[in-house]
Amino acid sequence: MQSYRLESFGNLDSLVLRHETLKQPGPGEVLIKVKATSLNFRDLALLHGTYPMTCQLNLIPLSDAAGEVVSVGERVARFKPGDRVANNFFPRWFGGPFPRTSASEQYGSDQDGWLTEQKIVSAETLVAIPPHLSFEEAATLPCAAVTAWTALAGLSAGDTVLTQGSGGVALFALQLAKLLGARVIATTSSPEKAERLKGLGADEVINYSNCPDWSVQARNLSDGRGVDRIIEVGGPGTLTQSIRAISVGGEIEVIGFLAAGEPSIDFSSLFLSGATLRRIAVGSRSDFEAMNRVVSMHNLRPVVDRVFAFDQALEAWRHFDARQTFGKVVIAHG
Ligand SMILES: NC(=O)c1ccc[n+]([C@@H]2O[C@H](COP(=O)([O-])OP(=O)(O)OC[C@H]3O[C@@H](n4cnc5c(N)ncnc54)[C@H](OP(=O)(O)O)[C@@H]3O)[C@@H](O)[C@H]2O)c1
Repeated sequence: MQSYRLESFGNLDSLVLRHETLKQPGPGEVLIKVKATSLNFRDLALLHGTYPMTCQLNLIPLSDAAGEVVSVGERVARFKPGDRVANNFFPRWFGGPFPRTSASEQYGSDQDGWLTEQKIVSAETLVAIPPHLSFEEAATLPCAAVTAWTALAGLSAGDTVLTQGSGGVALFALQLAKLLGARVIATTSSPEKAERLKGLGADEVINYSNCPDWSVQARNLSDGRGVDRIIEVGGPGTLTQSIRAISVGGEIEVIGFLAAGEPSIDFSSLFLSGATLRRIAVGSRSDFEAMNRVVSMHNLRPVVDRVFAFDQALEAWRHFDARQTFGKVVIAHG
């Protein structure tokens, strides 16, 4: 079988295809034919050496996959050959609070990821994929969709949610927030993307390029009260605006670091906002399964920007790295 490995950080020349051999699944393990993977901002950060966590070299990249179970080892009851599955982002976080142990290891940075034709993993790390989704669509779920889902935990119908941009997490947050009965204000950098966000259900769209002080507009669009929930993927470059846009008692979901900017937080603004900041770490297997029930019930379809073939993987990375996408970039493994 063939796998891509990232042999050094810095550029895509170091993402190389290798022939490798695979053993049989041991007790508790399953052999999966990987059908599709998807890219996340994290994969670009790993490639460019800017990921803020430990990362090893020479690993198979990518954290998100969907595939079909080929065979199972002894004592596997969760799945059987032919089942359609996806992996949880954290291979060993099954439920409960986020573990600060080896159970928080990640694919592609601590252990081999999914840009490979076949893979053996513990059956415990997998979830069944919603029946209405193709493998290409299901491969978009493990990181971006589960993150959006956990960031919306505790939302009430009628709440106002603000999503930032049109990346993977933001689009899933918009789609899921609408399913949960929320009003959504989305930000984006272009009028074309604003129209597409409205097409996905955004009630209001703010162009953050024309309007760097977008918190004022967000407050005006929420009766001066501020928004109840912010899907904060920008980080250093957006957090100050988020603190100004949030309602008293609202929640800012601290997720990403897409936007460069002033790294310090103004204490008085934070104190006076009355907001709660909650750090998100994707989600557990149990979060993924809970989300899949809602995805299935509502036939939610992930937004896919473009699908590349397995032998075009480098092209897929280049396309995503150009930062012009709307929706997920997927690699179909055939
Ligand atoms: N903590 C966690 O558990 C967790 C999980 C998943 C992801 N993350 C992090 O969350 C972030 C988002 O990940 P992703 O995979 O969704 O990213 P992505 O798909 O690469 O997002 C790209 C989009 O980000 C938007 N963007 C860039 N700068 C922005 C700004 N200043 N304001 C608003 N939007 C901006 C752009 O939207 P427009 O083109 O519309 O302007 C762009 O299209 C990353 O930093 C990632 O590392 C964290």
